[in-house]
Formats: sequence, structure tokens, C-alpha cells
Amino acid sequence: MEPKGDIAVIGLAVMGQNLILNMNDNGFTVVAFNRTVSKVNDFLDGEAKGTNIIGAQSVEEMVANLKRPRKVMLMVKAGEVVDKFIEMVLPHLEEGDVIIDGGNSHFPDTIRRTKMLEEKGMLYIGTGVSGGEEGARKGPSIMPGGSPKAWPLVKDIFQAISAKTDSGEPCCDWVGENGAGHYVKMTHNGIEYGDMQLICEAYQLMKEGLGLSTDEMHEVFTEWNKGELDSYLIEITRDILGYKTEEGEVVVEQILDTAGQKGTGKWTGISSLDLGVPVTLIGEAVFSRCLSALKDERVAASKVLKGPGTSFEGDKKVFVKDIEKALLASKLVSYAQGYMLLREAAKEHGWNLNYGGIALMWRGGCIIRSTFLGKIKEAFENNPDLHNLLLDDWFKGVIDDCQASWRKVVQEAIRLGIPVPAFTTALAFYDGYRNPRLPANLLQAQRDYFGAHTYERLDKPRGEYFHTNWTGRGGNTSASTYTV
Ligand code: 6PG
Repeated sequence: MEPKGDIAVIGLAVMGQNLILNMNDNGFTVVAFNRTVSKVNDFLDGEAKGTNIIGAQSVEEMVANLKRPRKVMLMVKAGEVVDKFIEMVLPHLEEGDVIIDGGNSHFPDTIRRTKMLEEKGMLYIGTGVSGGEEGARKGPSIMPGGSPKAWPLVKDIFQAISAKTDSGEPCCDWVGENGAGHYVKMTHNGIEYGDMQLICEAYQLMKEGLGLSTDEMHEVFTEWNKGELDSYLIEITRDILGYKTEEGEVVVEQILDTAGQKGTGKWTGISSLDLGVPVTLIGEAVFSRCLSALKDERVAASKVLKGPGTSFEGDKKVFVKDIEKALLASKLVSYAQGYMLLREAAKEHGWNLNYGGIALMWRGGCIIRSTFLGKIKEAFENNPDLHNLLLDDWFKGVIDDCQASWRKVVQEAIRLGIPVPAFTTALAFYDGYRNPRLPANLLQAQRDYFGAHTYERLDKPRGEYFHTNWTGRGGNTSASTYTV
């Protein structure tokens, strides 16, 4: 009998199960497999009852049920587990078959795996899948990269199950070669970290600075979600602030203030340092999580270290509006930085990224989905060579409109002693980026003074290096001019 399976999915944790059910809803025949085989039976007797999903009891059975070229998708924990499953499946596949990794893998692993599989005549896809459990079930944002020849083989499945924009476009398209898909997903997560941190800073300002109650903040977020900030993260924050137990207790206020992290934000920060791109806001967002994790130290320090002892004295309603604007302006900077990173990574890895297309992929289904992403897409449509989003007319207009409020919020936070690292770094980046003369001339002089590291001059062509014998003792020998 001819095999019926369009695709196999290995890994029946909630993301895997939901993706399978989503594929089934869209008319594809999915073969489900899990290393602990009892989970396959549980799934078939439970969620998958009455569907066309085929359960496999072994890798052999899974493969035998697949149409050629076979497509096997791994929905397993990122890291070594992915390599283990590739090893397990590989002997059963043949040339032209595709392995797909749908976890949050680190992009260098995906680059390595693509190469390894292609050398064996197979195809590989490393794809970001964003949107959590609900997204996987109803339509995630899907960011596939890897072997270009694999894309036409999975395109129909992926675009069918993905989220759609309001105008019906799928939030899934080919990102680029080898690790490009996972790189874009990693950057998505970094931006997610930034958005979450900005929202948390707004919350702390309203709570500690203005003394607003959670009910009042619930109202504020309800309003914000109707404006430019309209997004999934603002929406869930609204709902979290409005969520109470049956006894009327506000759950968010019962949660320990210690953030966890699985690593994708950290990877974004590391990659930005490697590539020399100032992705400062995501960096601060990661460090803020680290600082939050030092709960015991902070509690001890709070008994010793004093703040300014000032309180807010202005109009609270006006200041809430200022915070909204500061949040929007900072968010714009964060996305501009994220796109700067993508541009540099594309150069480094030889990826031909479609920047507007990436915004479209993030427009629906994923955690950072928002109306604002439509503006990024428009910016790249208006100017495909746009070097920095901040230079786009819409971005520039919003920042002009928000700037006074943004500065006021940062000043007031500093005056009140409330930490707003993401708001602050966004503003510092903005002021640095728009400044034609930064104090790095002095820094170069210092480097040349103590280490003869040389400097370039304003009045000479770039690439010519000079050394000054600052002390009259060091001689005229300069250190080599390499840069890391
Ligand atoms: C998504 C999320 C998803 C996940 C992150 C959370 O796009 O659906 O980003 O990938 O929720 O792993 O990351 P942290 O645990 O690091 O916050």
C-alpha cells in the first residue's frame, strides 16, 4: 500500500501535539512519533482521537508511513537531543529526504547540521516557530531556513498551518540558507525580551512612582492596547493585571520577582557583541533578568543602600501618557537595533534576508506580534535599501512626537530612583546615533597614550594611522592596528 503520511512529527510535548493537530486540521496526514512510545498511544486515544493522524511505534514504522521525499520534523528540546534524534532517524532516510528542527536551536548548531545533512545528500531545515502552545495549535509564526531545496517541499504545509495577517498573507516564508531561520527566531526572542522589559519598567513606574493600583494599571493597558502599542504583549499584560483569584487577590502581586530565561535573549546579546552591533536594549533586558535573579542580595542591599527619598508630584494622568510615549519610542529603537543586527548577521553569513518579509512573518502568530510591525514592512517597501529604521519617515515622526515625554520619563525615573534601564539605554542610543561627534576621539587618544594603539585623523583619509609620543618617553613605535 502506498504510504499516506505527508510529514512526520517527532516529540509529543504540547508544542508537538498542537502542531500535529494544526496540520491535521489543514488536511495533511501526519505521522506522530515519540521516543516514549506510550505517549503516542495516549495522544491517539486523547487529543488525536477521530483524526487522520497516524501513530508510529518505531522510527521504522514512522518512515514507512511517509510519502517520498520524506519530511521528518523534530519538536524536541534544543541542544544535544536534536543531534541524538538526527542520528536515530538518519539511517532510515534516503537522498532528498528532509529533516526539520522546529525547536529554539542555537543558529551555529543549525549551520553545522545543515552542512552535515547536505553532505549526506539530505536536506535540512531549522525553523523558528513562535506563538507558544496556542500559536502552535491555531497558527504560529514560522521562520524556516536551511537547505533552499527543502523549501518547496514543505512550503504548502508550513504556510497552511501558519498564522495569517489581516489581509490573509501567511506569517511564514523562506528566510535563507543554513542557520538564517533560527537566527531570525533568536532575534525575535531578543526583541521579545526587550518588549517585555519595557512593559515591566512602565509597570514599575506606574506602581512605585505613581502609586497606581493594579486595577488602574489594567485600565491603562486596556487603553494602550487600542493605540500604537496595540500588541499581544500589551494585551496579555492587561489581562494579567486584571486577573484575580476567587478571593480577590491579584495573582501578579503574589509572584516572586525573579526572572527565568532559557537563553535565546542571551544568544542575541552575544551575537550582537560578536558582530559589533550596539543592540543595547536587548542587552539591558537580559541583564535586568540577571539582576532580578539576585533576589536575596537585593533584599539585603535594600536594608543598607539608600535612594533619593523623593516622590512624584505632577499630574499622574499626564505622566501615564508620557510613559506610553516613552515606551513607544524605546520600542522603535529596540526594533531598529534588532534590524541592525539582522543586517550585520546577513553580511557575515551571506544570507539574503528580506527585511520587510521578516516583519510580515512577525505580524501575526508570534509573541511580538503587533500592528506596529506593519509599519516596519511599509518602511522597507518604501525603501528596500533603508539602512536604519530610525531614518524612515514614520519612525522619525513618532520619535519626534514622543521625544519630550521620553526624556521626561527617564529624568523622572532617575529622580525617583526607579530603575528603567531599557528606557534609558534606548534614549542614550538615540542620542548617540544622532550625534556626529562622539567622545571616541578622546578614547583613541587614551589608547594611543597608554598602548601606542594609534588613531585616525579627521583631516586625513580613513585607514591612515597616526601615533603621538604623548609623554616624550615612549618612542615612536606604535602597536599594530588590528581590531577585534
Ligand atoms: C515564542 C517564545 C518561545 C518561548 C521562549 C521564552 O516565540 O513562542 O519566544 O520561544 O516562550 O523560549 O524564552 P525565555 O524562557 O528565555 O523567556
